[in-house]
Amino acid sequence: MHKMVVANYKMNGDRKFYSRVLKVVNKYNKKDTKIILCPPFVYIPFMKLKSANLGAQDISSTVNNKSTGQIGPSMLKEFGVKYTLVGHSERRAEGETDETVAMKVKTAVSHDLVPIICVGEEKKGDKIDIVSTQVEKALSLVDKGEIIFAYEPVWAIGSGIQPTTKQINKAISTIKKVASKSGHEVKVLYGGSVNGNNFSEIVKTDADGYLLGGVSNRLDEFASILKEMQ
Ligand code: PGA
Repeated sequence: MHKMVVANYKMNGDRKFYSRVLKVVNKYNKKDTKIILCPPFVYIPFMKLKSANLGAQDISSTVNNKSTGQIGPSMLKEFGVKYTLVGHSERRAEGETDETVAMKVKTAVSHDLVPIICVGEEKKGDKIDIVSTQVEKALSLVDKGEIIFAYEPVWAIGSGIQPTTKQINKAISTIKKVASKSGHEVKVLYGGSVNGNNFSEIVKTDADGYLLGGVSNRLDEFASILKEMQ
């Protein structure tokens, strides 16, 4: 099975940086790893990738002509985007609800874009039920289509702290179980403070791939992760 690496660049980088990213990815990408790069929208047209895929960091929840500031699915597809993050905790922190997440998932799936839905509990020690509810609600408006989840405990994002392998595996199996109840067979990635130092531990988990934030900007370390994936 192909393992996945998703790079979420958040609001980082400039054209010079993304041309360096392209060099690294085109050099290290081997066929066994599926790499998905999610730059800010404005850099998407400059991402000429040989073998990696493009993802957006977000997508509009509706398709209409009255959504100032939003980007719709056909616009993304015109520039070769195949994936989109949905419900990242940084979007949820700005007020995105489970209902909006469900609408975004529907928008993506109905336009043949694959949503990478971010779920995760707020605080260390929070119950896994929170994640189950996020999964259930995210899938409430779709009944088929390829769907990927990313288990990203909010407390692990950018903090340098991570759950144990056991905790990650429990969350992954919970997400898969809840999704299968509504008829979806999903892949589950892990994200939250993955870096060059802890990667050898993270690969031992049951995750189908990894969602990388900060380390995506440190190109030498990012390249070392791509090499380790081979
Ligand atoms: P991090 O971010 O790798 O910097 O913790 C992950 C994310 O926000 O998706």
